[in-house]
Amino acid sequence: MLICIPQVLTKEQVREIRELIDAANWVDGRVTAGIQSAERKHNTQLPEESAAARTAQQMVSVAVGNNPLFLSAALPQKVFPPLFNRYVVGDSFGSHVDNAIRSVKNSPERIRTDLSCTLFLTEPEDYDGGDLVIETLFGAQEVKLEAGDLVLYPASSLHSVTEITRGARISSFFWLQSMVRDDGERTLLFDLDQSIQRLAAERGHKDDEVVRLTGIYHNLIRRWAEA
Ligand code: NI
Repeated sequence: MLICIPQVLTKEQVREIRELIDAANWVDGRVTAGIQSAERKHNTQLPEESAAARTAQQMVSVAVGNNPLFLSAALPQKVFPPLFNRYVVGDSFGSHVDNAIRSVKNSPERIRTDLSCTLFLTEPEDYDGGDLVIETLFGAQEVKLEAGDLVLYPASSLHSVTEITRGARISSFFWLQSMVRDDGERTLLFDLDQSIQRLAAERGHKDDEVVRLTGIYHNLIRRWAEA
């Protein structure tokens, strides 16, 4: 499932984060790349332990953790601390798959990357190129969203970022381990949850069928989720 989630951050929050991170020092993006993807990666990243990164990380984590659509779609169990990258003219990231397991720096924690997330922090009119291209069963999807919007996609997908030809593209990116490992099962749960919410808005939460369907949703979670 590939899903775009609008307005995870307000424009004001985007401005605050940009102010913070634009003033910081950036390093070669290959610090977090595997051996194979390092050859294809041309961008810069914010060092994870910098004060700016930590504050910005916190803001992004809180925002995604409070977003009902994100929670419904991702069913997150462990979320990697968000990272920040910047592509300027000439930068790109060739087609690759993200590493399956990631260690959290200075922590024993390891995360299986079920889903990848990119949170856009630049308005699309401020740069050319820099499309996130994700291979799906239905062909390649090009994603370029408004600042504050997020795309969630299976980390098992081949993906790339096309070369920037004007301006710069700054984003936050991170991975997460979902309580439901299988993308097909997770997609069914998301569709069911969204339908229940629409039905509940029409009929009210106490409606018999809404209660019954909510029960089915939770019983499927019981079957498929690792807590
Ligand atoms: Ni990647």
